[in-house]
Amino acid sequence: MRGDKTVTPITISSPLKQPASPRAPQTRRTLRSLLAAALLGCAHAYTIAQTQPDTLQVLHWWTSTSEHKAVDLLVADLAAENVTWKDVVVPAGSGVGELIVLKSRVLAGDAPDVAQLNGPIFSEWADLGLLTDLDKVADSGKWDKLLLPEIASWIRPHGHVVVAPLGIHRVNTLFFNRKILDQYGLMPPQNWDEFERTAAKLHKAGVPALAQSSEPWQIATLFETLVLAEGGSAFYHDLFVKKDPAAFNDPRFAHALKRLRDLKQWMATPVQNMQWPEVTRLFANGGAAMMVMGDWAKGEMNAWGNATDSSFGCVATPGTADYHLYDIDTLAMFAAGGTHRNAQLKLAQLTLSPAVQADYNQVKGSIPVLRNPDTSKMDSCARASWKVFARGASAQVPSFAHRMATDETSRDAIIGEVRRYFMDETISTQETQRRLMSIARILTKIGTDNAQDTHR
Ligand code: BGC
Repeated sequence: MRGDKTVTPITISSPLKQPASPRAPQTRRTLRSLLAAALLGCAHAYTIAQTQPDTLQVLHWWTSTSEHKAVDLLVADLAAENVTWKDVVVPAGSGVGELIVLKSRVLAGDAPDVAQLNGPIFSEWADLGLLTDLDKVADSGKWDKLLLPEIASWIRPHGHVVVAPLGIHRVNTLFFNRKILDQYGLMPPQNWDEFERTAAKLHKAGVPALAQSSEPWQIATLFETLVLAEGGSAFYHDLFVKKDPAAFNDPRFAHALKRLRDLKQWMATPVQNMQWPEVTRLFANGGAAMMVMGDWAKGEMNAWGNATDSSFGCVATPGTADYHLYDIDTLAMFAAGGTHRNAQLKLAQLTLSPAVQADYNQVKGSIPVLRNPDTSKMDSCARASWKVFARGASAQVPSFAHRMATDETSRDAIIGEVRRYFMDETISTQETQRRLMSIARILTKIGTDNAQDTHR
């Protein structure tokens, strides 16, 4: 049922060949269909003519067991619409590599029809006129009423809907192994002091408290939760969205850095370079009592037969219960002359169907982007995630590690320094702060800052 899994070779042959029109031609609606839609107040009233079978090349990085399963659901629903989903996979957690391939392909005039994206980058593609405008589908499907308000404005950066949102991941998730914690009479920690006490007890018993990989994005995932716990949402914003040099010099930032390094004593050392499914496997098999990871790990463990609540549980990472550190998965459709427009619109339309939202997010570990989702398919982790996200802007914090907070250059530069500090204990906290302050000064000067502010 699924398409081929091939990594398209990267060849940069020519500069930006065909910047497509930002306003692709719209299918004309007849007076009758307009009238019918108005009378019925009907969602999905926009009929997309799809007479010929079509194939969409979809660039993404979803390769784990649960990610495969989630994609399979989309593939099957799309097939029912006469459209074949052809995988073009760049396998690496958190999209490391996918963006590079995407940029190269766009520059070579060979953009894929669809690409998985997280974060404000899609508005840059839209500004260049490269994305298919989804306004028709969004208007007729009443997306502004259907979607959570923050998502509805997020996907409409300059007045036009340019991506189809799939689901919302919660990054500040602490997974705990139910059996291990029960065995030692321990509760999941709610703050970092409690964590230290719990970790010390586990250490005595010879159990590593925390599963962790040395992959840069996985260190950044842990680190951003420490920053949030240390300084709350406003400080997090100053650091990762505004990149205010003074914030990197703040004692709270120094604390978060020290905490990151101190946590190594509770990890199996040396910390190994493992992909996230390997770390999750290690945690699921009892190799560590806890793990900080986005809730895609929940989807993965469920796919392996480990049930939420009985085999493992999840709570907010210590000190972040009031926040939802979010990572939103979206699909962007590249216009490329409009040849696959109808098929792209079909895909956009089906991503927002309540059934797809419920089934896809259940498998993926995320929560639906809808205002009134089907809660029957949500487990305790999803319900908790939903409850916090639905509180609105005061609870929502864009994940820096997962590209929601800033541009790629800033992200990579900051993650590079944080990882160096984590791995190399000869580097002092002050030195790292000093380096990051200089980086922040340069980044804000060259104007890569505030990418996030284009949406919020
Ligand atoms: C994406 C998820 C994906 C995870 C692991 C995150 O950045 O949003 O969809 O499952 O990375 O690759």
